Amino acid sequence: MRTLVVYETKFGNTERIARLVAGELSEAGHEVSCLGQSASGEDDFIGVPLWVIGSPTHWGRAPFRFNTLLRNAAKDAGSDHDFVVFDTRYENMHSGAADRIHRDLARQGLRPLLPPQSFVVDGDGLRSGQEEKAAELGRLIASLL
Ligand SMILES: Cc1cc2nc3c(=O)[nH]c(=O)nc-3n(C[C@H](O)[C@H](O)[C@H](O)COP(=O)(O)O)c2cc1C
Repeated sequence: MRTLVVYETKFGNTERIARLVAGELSEAGHEVSCLGQSASGEDDFIGVPLWVIGSPTHWGRAPFRFNTLLRNAAKDAGSDHDFVVFDTRYENMHSGAADRIHRDLARQGLRPLLPPQSFVVDGDGLRSGQEEKAAELGRLIASLL
C-alpha cells in the first residue's frame, strides 16, 4: 500500500522513529515516502491511502507549523485515508502531540488504524528500547494492511 510517513523533529528523535517505521513498511513490500515537515506539503498527502504521522510534543501538542500542515492536508486531501500517529515525549506525560493529532484527524473523518502511540525521550535522546519498539510498530502496521 502507498504510505506517507511524515514527521516533525527538532533534535532528530522523532525522525529516527519515523525512519525505522518506514523501513519496516518498505521491508514488508509497501511503497513508502518518508518526509520531514520542512520538505513536505499538502500535495504529498493527496491520494495516499495511509498516513503515518510522527511529532515531538511541544507544550503538550504538535509544533504549530506541523499542526497547520496536517490540518490543511486533511482539508485538501479529504477524509478517505487511514492513519497512525505517534509522538515523542518525556516519561509520565499523560497526553502528548499524538493524542491531539489523532483526535483532530478522527474528528475530520479519517480512520485510525491504531490508538495514538508514543515513544519516550530522556533528555535529548531516545530511551533505550524505543528503537526496537519503533520497528515493532512498523511491523504491526504492515500486518494490518
Ligand atoms: C519547546 C519544547 C517544549 C516541550 N514540551 C514538552 C511537553 O509539553 N511534554 C513533553 O513530554 N515533552 C516536551 N518537550 C520535550 C520533547 O518531547 C522532546 O524534545 C522531543 O520529543 C524530541 O523530539 P525530536 O528529537 O524529534 O525533536 C518539549 C521540548 C521542547 C523543545
